Amino acid sequence: MSVQIKTLEQYQEAFRKSIENPEAFWAEIADTFTWYQKWHTVVNNDMITPDVRWFDGAKVNITQNCLDRHIPERGNQTALIWEPNEPDAPTQKYTYSELLAEVCKCANALKSLGVQKGDRVCFYMPMVPEVAIGILACARIGAIHSVVFAGFSANALAERIKDAQAKVVLCTDYNRRGPKTIPVKEVVDEAIEMGCDSVSHVLTYRSTGGDVLWDERRDIWWHKLVDVQSTVCAPEIMDAEDPLFVLYTSGSTGKPKGVVHTTAGYMVFTCYTFMNTFQYQDGDIYWCTADVGWVTGHSYILYGPLLAGATTLMFEGVPGYPDTGRFWQVIDKYKVNQFYTAPTAIRALMAAGWDEPDKYDLSSIKVLGSVGEPINEEAWRWYDEKIGRGNSPVIDTWWQTETGGIMISSLPGITDTKPCFAAYPHPGIQPVILDQNGQIITENNVEGLLCIQYPWPGMLRTTYGDHERCRTTYFAPYPGYYFTGDAAKRDEDGRYRIIGRVDDVINVSGHRIGTAEVEDAINQHPEIVESAVIGFPHDIKGQGIYAFVKATHDVTQPEQLRKEILEMVTKYIGPIAKPDIIQFVIQLPKTRSGKIMRRILRKIAENQYDQIGDISTLINPESVEEIKSGAQHPF
Ligand code: WTA
Repeated sequence: MSVQIKTLEQYQEAFRKSIENPEAFWAEIADTFTWYQKWHTVVNNDMITPDVRWFDGAKVNITQNCLDRHIPERGNQTALIWEPNEPDAPTQKYTYSELLAEVCKCANALKSLGVQKGDRVCFYMPMVPEVAIGILACARIGAIHSVVFAGFSANALAERIKDAQAKVVLCTDYNRRGPKTIPVKEVVDEAIEMGCDSVSHVLTYRSTGGDVLWDERRDIWWHKLVDVQSTVCAPEIMDAEDPLFVLYTSGSTGKPKGVVHTTAGYMVFTCYTFMNTFQYQDGDIYWCTADVGWVTGHSYILYGPLLAGATTLMFEGVPGYPDTGRFWQVIDKYKVNQFYTAPTAIRALMAAGWDEPDKYDLSSIKVLGSVGEPINEEAWRWYDEKIGRGNSPVIDTWWQTETGGIMISSLPGITDTKPCFAAYPHPGIQPVILDQNGQIITENNVEGLLCIQYPWPGMLRTTYGDHERCRTTYFAPYPGYYFTGDAAKRDEDGRYRIIGRVDDVINVSGHRIGTAEVEDAINQHPEIVESAVIGFPHDIKGQGIYAFVKATHDVTQPEQLRKEILEMVTKYIGPIAKPDIIQFVIQLPKTRSGKIMRRILRKIAENQYDQIGDISTLINPESVEEIKSGAQHPF
């Protein structure tokens, strides 16, 4: 734990060093891991091509660092605690030794299915321990995991399986989510029917015991295959830059892209940021409520904590089941010390019962983290007072799927905190604010585009199968910089505050949704000509989804068509992308070149009619009045 920062002076010193000599700075941190062979070059700094490489020449296995490395000292320490959906169902705990054995068994099982180094393995699994075991098993043998959030539809799953050409899919029979039991295997079957020819096997973990259809040629039960394997599996020796995983995320155009992270840099970055952001101490119990289907689950339920030798808690259920005190009950039950969740959850629980947390003993809490979307001041204060009792710092962490780990946050007890501010860059991170022309703004008290000006070990290396897309999305807009897609403010003391996306990506309950994807889904309906999807401020979700839709005919039965549109979105993406508001319009405002004027629709969706501005360049200015008169603002 020598690289854990403890004081403000150490933070300042680490930060200074990381700027003056990034190579020496990161090499010192990397030295604390176990390598089969050390690197010959710390970083290849090419953010133009881009061709960023970290720890080139090194040989390593991330699971050796997550598991084997800890056995002598903490083999009997709990690595993973699993809290089931039902509060009275038995908890499961795995020590580091037990987790290593389970990972080896699953790794051997994958090998027996013909999975080899470099093959892609897709996960469509809810929050059961086997998803963690399976992910680590892939990393053990050098297979590339591609986890798909189990709330996505069969279509969305099929798209991702095909893009990654996954050989094996891991799933469960069903998913317990609060009071509901949701089919999982059935969705995988449906997806595979959509032309996923690369898939040779589906490995199913029996979670609920419900009935499933079975194809003897393809389907294998986890308990039949994994349980009989040897508990020993030598880690595959990986090159530093071998891909570790692909994770699909939405952008402003086109289909979701597979963000690719590689082995060594991601390992060093997630561990370092975990130790510093949460100030984890031996014996602490750490809980991140994210789903493993998102990057937060990858980096801060699994890799970061396990690399740091922590005890990480994984929760199967949802915050509102059996009641809205569940999170606080779980904190009380395990005496959780660091708690990491999303503002949406905080706002929903705050709205459900202001004083509900008072019923529980939350005195174990030392650090409270927030991630995924801007945290508004009211939620920040409630979190601080009710959950942190005013003496546990609230740490707002800004980062992205593409950054691999936390980039900007206060460090609890070390740097100060300020509501709504993620605040300070971590050592090794060089954020800059650019103006619209791509010029750096060096002063404080400014606002602009957030970019990063030097590589960091956890950054994405490419987008799967399409390097050009990676270049044009992130590196070409402002040459020499990584472009985040976010706007930010920097206050007079150098703290950063994230304002939000500047592209057509919306953030609904902390989930990234591309408006183009939702439009594509809506437009699949035969009675729809075109649509425009816009984000609007929503009290609980942060942003809601507003769809302006033009049908082929006069809509006489709006409720029926609305229902069908929601079904369409659920079918093509999943329920998380369902619009909150659907307004049928006669025409969408367009420029002479036929482009939809989204700026105008945004102002209407945001209920800021006075800011609509100039509409004289529209080919159909009358559309604006028509849309305004039919607009809805129920939230
Ligand atoms: C937003 C989630 C404000 C931001 C880890 C970013 C945030 C996108 C914060 C990435 C925060 C994430 N404050 N906004 N603390 N954290 N965001 O890839 O717009 O799912 O670009 O990664 O979420 O979402 P992603």
